[in-house]
Amino acid sequence: MITNAETRTNVHEIAPDVYRINTPVNTPDGFSFNFNQYLLVDDEPLLFHTGPRQLFPLLREAISAIIPVARLRYVGFSHVEADECGSLNLLLAAAPQALPLCSSIGAMVSVNDLADRPPRALADGETLVLGRHTVQWIDTPHVPHGWDAGLLMETTQRTLFCGDLFTQGGSGEVALTESDILGPSEAFRKPLDYFAHAPQTATTLARMAAMMPRTLACMHGSAWRGEGASLLRHLAEAVRG
Ligand SMILES: [Fe+2]
Ligand SMILES: [Fe+2]
Repeated sequence: MITNAETRTNVHEIAPDVYRINTPVNTPDGFSFNFNQYLLVDDEPLLFHTGPRQLFPLLREAISAIIPVARLRYVGFSHVEADECGSLNLLLAAAPQALPLCSSIGAMVSVNDLADRPPRALADGETLVLGRHTVQWIDTPHVPHGWDAGLLMETTQRTLFCGDLFTQGGSGEVALTESDILGPSEAFRKPLDYFAHAPQTATTLARMAAMMPRTLACMHGSAWRGEGASLLRHLAEAVRG
């Protein structure tokens, strides 16, 4: 479903109750990119990533096509960057009961100060029941970047909200694919490596693989369905070089 004819912002359900909101963008130098946010609809709806602040009207419009924005209860994000959480305070204003959801490090270092309401900080491995769905927080410091980084796993359908992992350039027009995303994401990473290459990167990726995700909800590009453990192991090898 296209929710904005001008920008081609679109919404697709990529796993049960999980909606991908995609906005393609073109930079002034002709570079094609895209930003995804994911809405998990449940008794306590959760949005993972907010997109940049300047795209907030498009996000609000897209969420409103699925649920009233005021119903949001959690606004989660991996780490502090504009595309991860730039619209956080605008969302908190639009959804009076919503709380930021982030890592304990994220809360301590940034979010306690940046956010207009105190966050619900999750410890590594902590779970949060949203209704039919439960999500689990995984600390992933410096993977792919940011001391505060972490990711969310939806434990029933095993959808991993994998943030910047497997970032693919272009418009991201295919919402969900079963074909290879590692090749395109490695092609994107080559000239513009966004990984911190910290000593624990391989261990962190192996930990995510052990959770055996079935859907990878990528923040940039197509979401992917398949045997997530194997793809994460291949990513670890590629990053190791
Ligand atoms: Fe990032
Ligand atoms: Fe990102």
